[in-house]
Amino acid sequence: MFGFTGKATQGSFLHDVFTSLPPHYDLINHLFTLGLDGRWRLLAVRECLKGNPQKVLDICCGTGDLSLTIANMGSGCVEVTGIDFSRPMLEKAKQKAEKRGLSDRVSFISGDIAAIPFPDGHFDCIGVSFAFRNLTYKNPFAGKYIAEVIRVLKPGGRFVIVESSQPHPGSKIIKWLHRFYVRHIVYRVGWLVSGNKEAYCYLSDSALNYYGAEELQRFLTESGFSRVSFRRLLLGAAAIHVAII
Ligand SMILES: C[S@@+](CC[C@H](N)C(=O)[O-])C[C@H]1O[C@@H](n2cnc3c(N)ncnc32)[C@H](O)[C@@H]1O
Repeated sequence: MFGFTGKATQGSFLHDVFTSLPPHYDLINHLFTLGLDGRWRLLAVRECLKGNPQKVLDICCGTGDLSLTIANMGSGCVEVTGIDFSRPMLEKAKQKAEKRGLSDRVSFISGDIAAIPFPDGHFDCIGVSFAFRNLTYKNPFAGKYIAEVIRVLKPGGRFVIVESSQPHPGSKIIKWLHRFYVRHIVYRVGWLVSGNKEAYCYLSDSALNYYGAEELQRFLTESGFSRVSFRRLLLGAAAIHVAII
């Protein structure tokens, strides 16, 4: 469906996609997850806050929902940083923080996950919502991104991922419905609402062909995490993975 020809193409393609999507991003996200994205982020936030972390990083924070929920639920005891390379996404995140009176509990910074601007072992926890797929699906920089996450996590630190996944292999009807929904609804409606055909072609292609929960668990273990557990959401359409370094 979509082919990448090289590192520069992939990096700038994703940057262009996420610089052009912001006006519709939150709305489309809510629509496609049937309004469940907020609930799934909340479950991920609970995982992030286990063990009472002092410093939490939200990578690929987008319009800031994961960071803001951590800041809100951490009740002032957690220092939260959100990082993303799309300035329009970060602008939205900052506006939300101001509106919700959370500006003093969370900072949003511009940067690439290939070079996280913090020293080794700085964070107790790193969270990522609906963006790990972008970092790792046919992405030639995937190894660099994971190495950076591992570098800035403290020994014993937690990496929490909430991401779309694949329905359980045993359930053929659900698998068919999932494919139909992503290929025909997500792709066409996303294209219609955003006007960006290429972006939704990539998003639906990557959603259909990304790792299932066990595969992602294996990938994280092979990447250097010592313990990786997961929980399936909505019959496997999404999953939360917790990986300990
Ligand atoms: C699908 S959005 C997810 C946003 C947000 N985490 C959420 O829950 O809605 C993916 C985000 O990843 C960001 N992104 C992708 N690759 C990145 C990279 N290499 N460095 C920094 N941000 C990146 C994009 O700019 C975009 O905001």
